[in-house]
Amino acid sequence: MSEEEGDFHSSQLGSKEYWDAAYNRELKAFTDIGDVGEIWFGEDVQNRMVRWVSQRSDLLHSARVLDLGCGNGTMLLELHEEDFMDLTGVDYSEAAIQLATDVAAKAGVTDISFEVCDILNEESVSNLIQEGKDKFDICLDKGTYDAISLHDPSDPTDRRLYATHVHSLLTDQGRLIITSCNWTKDQLVLHFEKEFELVHELPAPSFTFGGKKGQTVTTLIFRKKTLDAG
Ligand SMILES: C[S@@+](CC[C@H](N)C(=O)[O-])C[C@H]1O[C@@H](n2cnc3c(N)ncnc32)[C@H](O)[C@@H]1O
Repeated sequence: MSEEEGDFHSSQLGSKEYWDAAYNRELKAFTDIGDVGEIWFGEDVQNRMVRWVSQRSDLLHSARVLDLGCGNGTMLLELHEEDFMDLTGVDYSEAAIQLATDVAAKAGVTDISFEVCDILNEESVSNLIQEGKDKFDICLDKGTYDAISLHDPSDPTDRRLYATHVHSLLTDQGRLIITSCNWTKDQLVLHFEKEFELVHELPAPSFTFGGKKGQTVTTLIFRKKTLDAG
């Protein structure tokens, strides 16, 4: 495999069936015992991402924030706690969106928009910014690009679609903040070089993912590039 492809292989974490089954289980556990389910990569990583957004002095609390593949939606709940008012979470798993909606409702939060959306589907993505809705100032991704990459790591088609779709969702000054455990900083920079420019890297704690201990995550902040027409 080339440097760009990395050294991991196709996994069930790349399939919608896997996520539907996982979130149906988590939905049941939430209903039965109030457990919100997995915080992917741990709370430390989530807190670092939330802190980066909330401490940006040039970002108003009215900034539009989109969590790509939001799962149980807890990262958006944390941003809601920080007084961000325009929050949207999307996931292609209906069960994830139900879980996120229920978790938020139990916390008394009803003004976060949770929507079923496949980030790789052009029509679903363009619906997010149609009908007079503004583009997003911030896109968050914690583990979703990883899941998309695991579908077929040797085929860059889905990764390219992801990059062009996220680019289209952001304002000209927009930022993508992404945490990955499968790709290194250099690989992510290479994947996104056409649409995004690296502006910052957050310090990385180590954590457990897919049973492997001691892995290190990479959290990067990308600025949207202006693409040449034609
Ligand atoms: C590793 S989990 C991370 C979930 C959440 N971001 C978190 O940190 O807890 C990956 C998420 O990506 C979602 N996902 C994978 N492919 C997707 C796609 N094409 N469109 C939308 N969501 C997707 C899965 O349903 C799952 O919720």
